[in-house]
Amino acid sequence: MELPKELRYALESELTEISPKRLAQIASGLSGRYRENRPAGWAGRKSFIESREDVFAYAAFRMPATFAAVYSALDQVREVLPGWKPQTLLDAGAGPGTVIWAADAIYPDIKAITLLEREDGMIELGKRLAKHASSTSIRNADWISADIKNIREVFSRERASSVDSSCNIPDKVQSCDFDTAADVFDLVAASYVLGELDEKDRKTFLENLWKITSGILIIIEPGTPAGFLRIKQAREQLINEGGVVVAPCPHNARCPMAEDDWCHFSRRISRSRLHRQIKAGELSYEDEKFSFVAVARKTGEAMHAGGVDPGEASPAAERAADGKDTAGETPPGSKSETEETSPGRVSVPGRVLRHPLIRKGYIEFEVCGPGGISRKIVTRRDREMYRKARDLGWGSIFPGPICPKQGNIAETE
Ligand SMILES: C[S@@+](CC[C@H](N)C(=O)[O-])C[C@H]1O[C@@H](n2cnc3c(N)ncnc32)[C@H](O)[C@@H]1O
Repeated sequence: MELPKELRYALESELTEISPKRLAQIASGLSGRYRENRPAGWAGRKSFIESREDVFAYAAFRMPATFAAVYSALDQVREVLPGWKPQTLLDAGAGPGTVIWAADAIYPDIKAITLLEREDGMIELGKRLAKHASSTSIRNADWISADIKNIREVFSRERASSVDSSCNIPDKVQSCDFDTAADVFDLVAASYVLGELDEKDRKTFLENLWKITSGILIIIEPGTPAGFLRIKQAREQLINEGGVVVAPCPHNARCPMAEDDWCHFSRRISRSRLHRQIKAGELSYEDEKFSFVAVARKTGEAMHAGGVDPGEASPAAERAADGKDTAGETPPGSKSETEETSPGRVSVPGRVLRHPLIRKGYIEFEVCGPGGISRKIVTRRDREMYRKARDLGWGSIFPGPICPKQGNIAETE
């Protein structure tokens, strides 16, 4: 995939102050700090970003990749809830505003955007990048300088400041009483942020974000074992709060991933010239690995009531709906005991967890479903299913029923 033209242009125009050579040096230091996640000498520091140059390096060397991750994660949500059209967005730990560009590309109906970020340099750059957007919601987004560990205080402060009408954040936020809030933002996102919070702060952060989510809360982290562990913990916490997992998991059951494994996806993004110079990379692309979870406050049915058109079917829904019987199993797309379906929500029997293995005469899939993780084999003999299977990739919805056997990998054929 490519960055949207406007964002590519915005980055190239706004990052001219620092030479690509210097950006590359800073990016390398920054990337070391992120990789080591609080290296020696961290004590006392509050942020990975230490200077204005760090902000520029982050935007140049990480923004394209995190854009790809956020876009892909939201794309999975759109595939499952094709008619859901969020209108308000909160991005917590916004950095230079990566999420708003991806969210606007997937959900162009978003009208009001609020971003919370602690670093002034990030806010300043984010606002400058946003000026290049044709989307009025990106251009008019509200950037709030805030510590996301204290979202509750941020809201009280914003409410207080709205009294003298100096505050232009959406009405819903201004009138929000945190303790009774459950209907503030349709879409709430925290992308590549959990890892920057201490473990003790993460729980409260998620609890607070959940309170102000009326539709979907999406959390995205690097696709590493540590990133996935944070996602797994967040998923558990949000399910305990009554959340309904929308993506990537096709179920609300306990995550069946083995202890020594991690659920993640990958998205390829083209590198611009600047990006190649900074990364000193020969390749014209890079693959961003990410883990995520998207949790809805309501079931698919209730989401439908909130604006989902039941007649609208995504390509995934159509693929699943015209499926054919396989080896004595329920036809793909028909309701199995384990599927969760409701109007406005596409049936997701399973999620493909790795690149399918294409063998002679058959394709092998590792699929997560309500009963655990299973291996599915689609043979050439099953022409119709084989034709569909060839189009599936890592992260696709697996349209056939999944063996509801507990455990890690269950051979089904
Ligand atoms: C890795 S960047 C991710 C930026 C953006 N969300 C993205 O996906 O590209 C993490 C951001 O979270 C911000 N952040 C970390 N802790 C924060 C806190 N306690 N309050 C506000 N922002 C915070 C950092 O300043 C940084 O901009």
